Amino acid sequence: MSDVLISAEEIEAKLEEMGRAITEDYQGRDLLMVGVLKGAFIVMADLARHVDLPVEFDFMAVSSYGAATQTSGVVRILKDLDQEIAGRDLLIVEDIIDSGLTLNYLLKSLRVRRPASIEVAALLVKGGIQRIPLDVRYVGFEIGPEFVIGYGLDYAGKYRNLPYVAVMTDEEAEEVLGQP
Ligand code: PRP
Repeated sequence: MSDVLISAEEIEAKLEEMGRAITEDYQGRDLLMVGVLKGAFIVMADLARHVDLPVEFDFMAVSSYGAATQTSGVVRILKDLDQEIAGRDLLIVEDIIDSGLTLNYLLKSLRVRRPASIEVAALLVKGGIQRIPLDVRYVGFEIGPEFVIGYGLDYAGKYRNLPYVAVMTDEEAEEVLGQP
């Protein structure tokens, strides 16, 4: 049984609030929401349904963790955007910001393409331990240093489909690794 940290209901209410703020802020602008795969696919889908604007979508895939629970610091772009972003208003959507390395790298590589603006929406931000200070405009929840799974977040590729955010239990870790 998972150790629920943020329930499905709490997430839904928060995404609604974030979506409302985004809708207000981007009136009359050319919004392109960019999901950072794989983790952001669920947040993107649910947040987007609370954004009442003619928004477009694109995705990038990056990798920073590998199969371990620690940030390695290595960021690789596995899939780039499909379209040009010059002059567009970008909103990067993340499931979690941990060390900030991924986002820092993404922001740097996207800024040189001259979008009109770049902001960030993240469901979770790990408080206190971010190595890189970043300006995240829309934050869902600040959490502690515990390793979390669910709502897009994985452990070794599993548990992304949990409808809530949970602190991973030893049992869940053992189940994935197949060893006690
Ligand atoms: C997670 C998350 C962020 C990044 C945050 O992705 O989706 O992109 O880590 O960590 P950081 O702030 O320490 O850089 P991950 O690399 O695990 O890939 P995934 O989304 O495919 O699970």
